[in-house]
Amino acid sequence: MSDSTLTAGSRVFDIDAIRADFPILQRKINDQTLVYLDTAATSQKPKQVIEALTNYYEQTNANVHRGVHTLSIEATDGYELARTKVAKFINAVRPEEVIWTRNTSESLNLVAATWAEANVGEGDNIVITAMEHHSNIVPWQHLAEKKNAELRYLAADEDGLLDISELDSIVDSRTKIVAATHMSNVLGSINPIAELANRAHAVGAVILVDAAQSVPHMPVDVQALDADFLCFSAHKMLGPTGIGVLWGRYELLEVMPPYMFGGDMILEVTYENATWNDLPYKFEAGTPNIADAIATGAAVDYLTELGMDNVWQHEQELTAYAMEQILSLDSVKVLGPQDSALRGGVISFIHGTIHPHDLGTALDQQGIAIRTGHHCAMPLVRSFDVVAAARASFYIYNTKSEIDALVNGISETERYFSRCPVA
Ligand code: ALA
Repeated sequence: MSDSTLTAGSRVFDIDAIRADFPILQRKINDQTLVYLDTAATSQKPKQVIEALTNYYEQTNANVHRGVHTLSIEATDGYELARTKVAKFINAVRPEEVIWTRNTSESLNLVAATWAEANVGEGDNIVITAMEHHSNIVPWQHLAEKKNAELRYLAADEDGLLDISELDSIVDSRTKIVAATHMSNVLGSINPIAELANRAHAVGAVILVDAAQSVPHMPVDVQALDADFLCFSAHKMLGPTGIGVLWGRYELLEVMPPYMFGGDMILEVTYENATWNDLPYKFEAGTPNIADAIATGAAVDYLTELGMDNVWQHEQELTAYAMEQILSLDSVKVLGPQDSALRGGVISFIHGTIHPHDLGTALDQQGIAIRTGHHCAMPLVRSFDVVAAARASFYIYNTKSEIDALVNGISETERYFSRCPVA
């Protein structure tokens, strides 16, 4: 099927031009052209991002916030400009609300270890959802145990959508924080964050959003969501690994205790004591990940130029097409909403007779990369009475032809296994 010019929004989403920016898409895997359907794990990187990294190390490398020499000033400017780009990308009120971390997990842990450590007490409760990644479960289990607090779950309904029918009783006057994924990395379900925020705020709680799967794919506006904290990783949005973002409301971040201690996060140190630097540096101890921050800025530039409305529309078209094709296979059950309009570009599925790992390995033989396993969401995957699922996930560089390749690949794998003698 030809899809060289999928129309997205008011302009042509030039898929050939986009694909030409990603060197890795030229690779052959097992003699086949790579079909990369594992962006939910990590995205591929365009040459603009790779060049930003190379350029930094070749032309600008120096430490930030410390020097008066040209290279240090340029590195500092690049590092801070990237922060400003990210702030604009998510419509933060000010750049100081953007804290660089290592990844979404660290951002979530930072909030648990600072804001929640200071605000959750015995008998309080923390509310999360049944469709969280381990990163948004385990820190809360740990905190709840430490504080003698209760960890509550908002359930998913049988369509894989968040069941908010009991929101008012689950989130009550003892709730201190509601922590929810914006988009499930297993089900693709998109959660009603503004509604959760409304309820959290009505009882004086705060809301934290795991946006690892949403910020790369759809327009996300922290003010429109009425969020208090929001976390995401650069590597899922064309940027490098090893860098992520915690966005928080300035008033909250300002009164939170530091997460790590050391250089750059202090204002003054004596032999007896120390005072903390202003935001955002209070949360950025030590030499930061300068190169990757600058490359994240390049990733944001790339996505901004495409337009996040266009990115989202492209993925919605791909998802609708993929759902139709995958659901046409009798042997396959798709987890999560069957209505593609209610989900993002992540499709987890279970084959009736072929184990996901066998399927993933057989598809790899055909050059097709999908993810298999529990997707770092064991409780959710196990709630479907399986221990693993296969998952295809899409991004700006994917095409309908690649979805055809996936569906043909599944059928080819079925034919292969049907020829295998049963022991
Ligand atoms: N959390 C990432 C995924 O869903 C790694 O694959």
